[in-house]
Amino acid sequence: MLEGKRILLVIAGGIAAYKSLDLIRRLRERGASVRCILTKGGAEFVTPLAVAALSEEKVYQHLFSLTDENEMGHIRLSREADLVLVAPATADIMARMAAGICDDLATTALLATDKPVMVAPSMNVMMWGHLATQANLATLEKRGVLRVGPGSGDLACGEVGSGRLAEVMDIVRAVESFFDASAGPRPLSGRRAIVTSGPTWEAIDPVRYIANRSSGKQGHAIAAALAKLGAETVLVSGPSREPDPQGVRVIHIESAREMRDACFTALPADIAVCAAAVADWRPAEAAGQKMKKNGDAPAPLALTENPDILASLSQAENRRPRLVVGFAAETENVVAYAQAKRARKGCDWILANDVAPGTGTFGGASNTIHLITAETVEDWPTMSKEAVAGRLAERIAAAFGRPA
Ligand code: PMT
Repeated sequence: MLEGKRILLVIAGGIAAYKSLDLIRRLRERGASVRCILTKGGAEFVTPLAVAALSEEKVYQHLFSLTDENEMGHIRLSREADLVLVAPATADIMARMAAGICDDLATTALLATDKPVMVAPSMNVMMWGHLATQANLATLEKRGVLRVGPGSGDLACGEVGSGRLAEVMDIVRAVESFFDASAGPRPLSGRRAIVTSGPTWEAIDPVRYIANRSSGKQGHAIAAALAKLGAETVLVSGPSREPDPQGVRVIHIESAREMRDACFTALPADIAVCAAAVADWRPAEAAGQKMKKNGDAPAPLALTENPDILASLSQAENRRPRLVVGFAAETENVVAYAQAKRARKGCDWILANDVAPGTGTFGGASNTIHLITAETVEDWPTMSKEAVAGRLAERIAAAFGRPA
């Protein structure tokens, strides 16, 4: 997929720098040539020898190296690439990119390049969340810098949260989608899509909530697949550990009401896909302070119904997306219940999936879908959630015909 593509990989000084070695291999396996700039910090974590051996190219390290400047000046280095990829992108290098500082070879090449730049951030959770880092990121994104990750989970520093370098294969996929996207008009170019994903959290008090086991895998994969086919995609996501998909605008929310508001703010859209496991009910009143045990039996939790986002989008006067697709999570009579749900909510298609215990549909990697329209039922074989997403996106593209 990357045959003939030239990638300039900037390896900055973070513990995840060791993963850049695998990244070089994976990119080269796909036909790309990878030339590397190793920063002073990066060289604390990986050796120039290892980078040179894997890239089979000279490794560039110093701005004022006469030989390098003779053989390959930093301007040429930055321009003789189809994509400049910074992985890992530390908080420091992102700050220096945002400020336009160019005091070493990496930052000079990044300032001098006329090619697209993609960053794969990697840092401690607090550093990632810091207002300074987020402001730098916003500046870079406003200038068109692409981003992949970060993911969430255990961090090298021992803390847990956002800031993990995206998985190597996710970076590879982001690079592939970038080149895919720049190849010309795609079937959903000019269409706008809204996708909901993940669970919602409904507050009981400031520390407790009602939730469910949705991971966001299916919804996120659908957003990525629609974006890959060219749709301008907004993903409205409940709390999820899935990384933000490449090329998708992500709105993070917690509750069903926030999800509904974000969806309606994102209108108009041509396509809506509601894959989120929205809580049907929420506590009638969320306590303002943490509820205390007082020795008696706990007070019963009074619930009230949440707004139905799929139904409201399907029935939105004037603003209804042309194609509204829902999911039906059923544990019995899967197809029959899903058919009734499609008719009741008023969406065009519904993807029925069995979520009975043991299926692993909630949170798992695969799904078995029945695509239900007003007239037909189509049974899909069990496949990965990415494959489901790809197949759905193709079907949506076919329904729209030519690009807008
Ligand atoms: O996130 P994963 O771990 O990858 O799991 C994927 C999934 C199982 C969550 C997904 O494939 C799925 O089935 N999503 C819908 C889950 C659900 O809430 O189903 P439902 O049958 O209760 O709702 C029917 C439809 O109405 C869904 O499109 C849902 O998004 C929507 N809905 C439901 C309630 C509500 N208040 N608002 C809604 O929009």
